Amino acid sequence: MSRLKLNINGKTHTVDAPPDMPLLWVLRDKLNLVGTKYSCGIGICGSCTVLVDGEPARSCTLPAAAMAGNEITTIEGLAPKGDHPVQVAWNEEDVPQCGYCQGGQILTAAALLERKPDPADEDIDAAMAGVICRCGTYYRIRKAIKLAARYAAELGSAS
Ligand code: FES
Ligand code: FES
Repeated sequence: MSRLKLNINGKTHTVDAPPDMPLLWVLRDKLNLVGTKYSCGIGICGSCTVLVDGEPARSCTLPAAAMAGNEITTIEGLAPKGDHPVQVAWNEEDVPQCGYCQGGQILTAAALLERKPDPADEDIDAAMAGVICRCGTYYRIRKAIKLAARYAAELGSAS
C-alpha cells in the first residue's frame, strides 16, 4: 500500500492504495465518486474520463500514484450545483439515454469548450470521437455542445 495525496475536485484527499491502482478505482472504491464509470478498462471507450489539469484523460489506465500534483476533476466536481453550461445544455436537449457514458461525454465537451469556445462540427467530431455511446446519443450531444457554447458566451458577456 502507498499513501497517496490527490487533488480531486478542489480538495486534497489522502488515500491508501496499491501503487499501481488505476485512478478510476481510487475514485470509485476509495472515495465513492461513482460518477466515473468503468466499461472497457483498456482506454478505448471514454466512460471513465476525468479531467487532469483541464484535459480529458482515461482514469482506467492512469495509475493514481502518478497523479500527485495534478488537479483532477470528476463529473461530481465540474460545477458544485450541476449548472455548468454543458450540464444545463445537456438537460435542455435531453441528451442521455441510459446515461452510462454521459459523465465522460460531458467532461470531454467541457474541455473542448475551454479550448474552443465556438467549435465547428469538425472540432466537435474530433474532440468527441473516442467517447463511445452505445445508445447512440451523438446527434443530441452535438446539439447540446452548440447550445452550451451559446450559454457560456452569454454568461461571459453578462459578467
Ligand atoms: S473504461 Fe476507461 S476508456 Fe473505457
Ligand atoms: S447514454 Fe447509454 S451509453 Fe451513452
